[in-house]
Amino acid sequence: MTAGSKNKAKILIVDDEVRVREILSRKLADEGYHCLTAPNGNNALKLLKTDQVDLVLLDIMMPGKSGTKVLKEIKAKYPDTAVIMVTAIADVQTAIGLMKVGAYDYMIKPVELNVLLVSLDRALEKRRLLIENRDYQLHLEQKVKEQTKKIRQSFLNSITSLAYALEAKDKYTRGHSERVTEIAMAVARELALPKCMTGKIRLAGLLHDVGKIGVSESILNKPGKLTSEEFEQVKSHCEIGERILSPMVEDKEILEMVRHHHERYDGSGYPDGLSGGQITKEASIMAAAEVCDSILSPGAMALAVADAYDAMTSDRPYRPAMTPEAACAELKKGKGKQFDPVIVNTFLSLPKKYRRL
Ligand SMILES: [Fe+2]
Repeated sequence: MTAGSKNKAKILIVDDEVRVREILSRKLADEGYHCLTAPNGNNALKLLKTDQVDLVLLDIMMPGKSGTKVLKEIKAKYPDTAVIMVTAIADVQTAIGLMKVGAYDYMIKPVELNVLLVSLDRALEKRRLLIENRDYQLHLEQKVKEQTKKIRQSFLNSITSLAYALEAKDKYTRGHSERVTEIAMAVARELALPKCMTGKIRLAGLLHDVGKIGVSESILNKPGKLTSEEFEQVKSHCEIGERILSPMVEDKEILEMVRHHHERYDGSGYPDGLSGGQITKEASIMAAAEVCDSILSPGAMALAVADAYDAMTSDRPYRPAMTPEAACAELKKGKGKQFDPVIVNTFLSLPKKYRRL
C-alpha cells in the first residue's frame, strides 16, 4: 500500500470501551489513518450511512447489537468496506464463522499495534485490489461494447461504399438507393410512423439492393429478357442482402425490410410471399405489423412502392424510362394487388418533387 493511500484511508473503530476507542484511534491517527469511533453497532451503522469508510475495526461483545450481527449488515449494505473483528475471547470456531460471513481478520485484545498495522495494511490492499478489479471488469465490458460497435459501423461503411460504387458504375441504377430512401422516408413521415422507424427505413433504403453484389453483372445488365434461371438469381439479392448485413446490423426490422422489399401486397412477391392484405387503414399499419410476423412491415411496403416507382421512371437496359404520370398510373393500377393502397395514396399525396414531376 502506498503512503498516499494509507493517509487517506478512513477507519471506523467500534467498541463499547471508551479507552479502547481512544487508544486505537490515537495510535492509528499517528500512523496516518483518518479515524472515526462509535460506541455500539447502531451508532456505527448510522455513521456508515453518511461517511464513506474503508475499514471497520469491530468489537464482537458489545451491549445491544452484537459485532457478528453488525458485520453481516455491513457486508450486506457496504460490501466494499473491509472489516476486522476484535475480541477478548480467543475462539477458533468463532473466528472461522466470522471469516465466512466476510470479516477479513480476527484479532485478540489487547491488540498489539504492529500486528494490527500489518493486518490493516493487508485488508486495505485486498479491498483496493477487489475494487480495482471490479472497475476494470466493468470498464472492459464497456470498452468491448464500444469497439464492437465501431467495428460493425466500419464494416457497414465499407459495404455501403461498395454498394454505392457498384450502383454508380451503372448509369441505369446511379442514385437509385438514395432516391428510394428519400421517397420511403417521406411516406413514413407522412404516415406519422415513429421517428425510430423512419431511421430504420433510411438505413434499409440505402442498403436494400446491397445483395446485388452477389449477382452477376452480366445478368443485372442484360439488355434482353431474363431466363427463369437468371431471374431466380436476380431474386436472390434480397436474401443475399440480408445475409451480408446480418453480422453488422443487429436490428431485425432493418434486416426484414431489406429481405422483403420485393414482396407484394397480395402475397405474390418474393422471397417469402408475405402479404399486407389485412391492412387497410393507416392507424392499423403499425399494430398489424407488430402482431403478425407474416404481414409486411410498413417500412418494407414503403420501400417496395418507392423502389418500383424509381425503377419505372429510370431507364433500364431493356426499356426506356416511363414518364412520372405513367408510373403513377401503374401504381394506382397496382393498388391492393402489388402495392399497399395506403402507401400508394400517401406517396401520391407527397409534394411533386418526390415523383420527379
Ligand atoms: Fe431490389
